[in-house]
Amino acid sequence: MSAKKTDRLDPGFNTGRFLVPVIAILAYYIYPYVVAYFTTDVYALCSEHGDYIYTVDPANPRTQCIVVQQGYIVDLGSLPSVKSRWPAWRPLVPALPVRFIQPGSAVIPGLSDSHGHILEYGAMKQLPLEGTTSIEETVARVREFILANPDILSNHSTPIIGGGWDHTVWPSTRWPSAADLDADPVVRGRHVVLQSKDCHALWVSTKALQASLPLPPTVDGGIIVRDHEGNPVGTLLDNAQDLLKGLPLTDQELNRRFKVAVDSALAHGITSIHDAGLDPVSLSFFQRKADNGTLPIRIYGMTFFNVTQDYWGNTAKLVIGENNGRFTARSVKIFADGALRTGGAALHDHYADNPTSHGFMRLDPQVLHEWIPKFLRDGWQVNVHAIGDRANGIVLDAFEAALSGANVTALRPRLEHAQLMTKADMKRLARLGVIASIQPTHAISDMWYAQDRLGPERVKGLYAFRSIIDNGARITLGTDFPVEVISPFSTFYAAVTRLSPQGTSPHGPGGWFPEERLTREEALQGMTLDPAYASFTESSLGSLEPGKRADYVVLSQDIMTIPADQILATKVLATAIDGVVVYGEI
Ligand SMILES: *[C@@H]1O[C@H](CO)[C@@H](O)[C@H](O)[C@H]1NC(C)=O
Ligand SMILES: *[C@@H]1O[C@H](CO)[C@@H](O)[C@H](O)[C@H]1NC(C)=O
Ligand SMILES: *[C@@H]1O[C@H](CO)[C@@H](O)[C@H](O)[C@H]1NC(C)=O
Ligand SMILES: *[C@@H]1O[C@H](CO)[C@@H](O)[C@H](O)[C@H]1NC(C)=O
Ligand SMILES: [Zn+2]
Repeated sequence: MSAKKTDRLDPGFNTGRFLVPVIAILAYYIYPYVVAYFTTDVYALCSEHGDYIYTVDPANPRTQCIVVQQGYIVDLGSLPSVKSRWPAWRPLVPALPVRFIQPGSAVIPGLSDSHGHILEYGAMKQLPLEGTTSIEETVARVREFILANPDILSNHSTPIIGGGWDHTVWPSTRWPSAADLDADPVVRGRHVVLQSKDCHALWVSTKALQASLPLPPTVDGGIIVRDHEGNPVGTLLDNAQDLLKGLPLTDQELNRRFKVAVDSALAHGITSIHDAGLDPVSLSFFQRKADNGTLPIRIYGMTFFNVTQDYWGNTAKLVIGENNGRFTARSVKIFADGALRTGGAALHDHYADNPTSHGFMRLDPQVLHEWIPKFLRDGWQVNVHAIGDRANGIVLDAFEAALSGANVTALRPRLEHAQLMTKADMKRLARLGVIASIQPTHAISDMWYAQDRLGPERVKGLYAFRSIIDNGARITLGTDFPVEVISPFSTFYAAVTRLSPQGTSPHGPGGWFPEERLTREEALQGMTLDPAYASFTESSLGSLEPGKRADYVVLSQDIMTIPADQILATKVLATAIDGVVVYGEI
């Protein structure tokens, strides 16, 4: 009797206590498969005849189908093989839906722009000034914009923001002025701010200038253009642009700019943007959208460094992958020098067309040596704008010192632009593992005047993309929109042809320094997997592989094989983020 009782209480024979954890463990591991089995949120995307899905996975570059489930790629292969693994005969489950792309079209991973300016693009596209041929024509565009918008016409306080003017193509050699704007009766007396095409100059009205008075006599790394009596004329160059007091931006205005930029990006197949300059206003705006769960595109933000601020790298929050992988802000953006077009790029030797100028640094090199190690230590990626060969060298000096003994794969510092580099610095770039964030469309914009500015020898180190790669360095491609057009097909075309859109170049129809062209594979990788690496997301983005997020683009034609002169005619038929079509249709 007592023995029996003991038997029943012996834990070794208590099957209930044994089964509960086993069932729990099995349920834990089986549950996702049960969900996956019954879920209808699965489809295959296929090309009907042939492998027209470019994966950018070197081990498996092309495929016929990808299978997408709940925002992720879960399988790929030929249509028969995919169908055999995703059988239609599963009880209770509908057949695997197959979406076929139309004949002639192709699929590539979602495209990234590694260097763009989202809200600035939205602001400039409201009043685009590209293509004006004179100061007068530009002012006329501003007038027409005001006349076309009754709410602006009736309210003299509404700020008028536009951009894209390019004084280098105007006949007059002087800078545009506030007086030019005031000469027009419709424009006169309004708050007008017009950004130049390269974003290195602002042309403002008297009212906008007055709101920013008093201006200091001089600005480090910038110029306040003045008349012969010393009065500011209304043009501010480089660092002097920061003197302009902007009017506070409402969320309505920010949302309007944001929508202009995002709609345009998605229509061009862009699923991820590296925003190369967040200020407190844009950072807070994107953060609030991420908190709301309403970011329609991936944003990888670089927060502006401000030398007069206290160090914030140890207190500011690193934002990584919020809103389901849509928002990250873990980079700091530092400006080393100005731009080539405005003569602000810092050169070792003087400008070929201006023997008195070497350009200028926008900060003391010591600042780089002091701050870069701090940011890297505190987990920030450091992205430094450097254009001239001297600026690139100085930044590499600082990176080299900061990276000594460090694991560069964990840090991934970037040179933003890396336009003009000495051969030695290209080698050093590769040796250090620093990423060159480059813009191929700048090359075809600047190729017409670059040699005048740099001379026949030095110009060979400008936009020398092939040399950078051949030296073993990593690249990542972008546009610097709104400085250049937002289209990634322009980037692709410029990288593989080094020709103007019309098929011309200073070196003829074979391209400007054609030996510096990228292959199509390199260019595609430069807009997909390379930017994923440059933003620490290569394990989830950048190629079409099982386990990665299903960001992809359906193109009207196969950019990997069509004649180069047809690349710019490519249309985006559909853009998908996390497996969901957000532009166009399949
Ligand atoms: C005019 O515009 C200013 C600046 O945007 C705004 O604060 C003000 O409310 C507007 N006035 C009217 C009457 O709409
Ligand atoms: C976040 O959502 C709230 C409520 O819908 C809205 O009022 C607010 O404007 C949104 N914020 C942004 C930055 O879009
Ligand atoms: C830089 O920081 C200083 C001090 O916080 C501030 O007054 C200034 O407006 C900032 N400049 C820019 C361009 O944000
Ligand atoms: C360097 O960092 C990367 C990324 O964090 C890591 O995967 C790798 O193991 C590190 N290498 C060494 C040698 O610590
Ligand atoms: Zn930029």
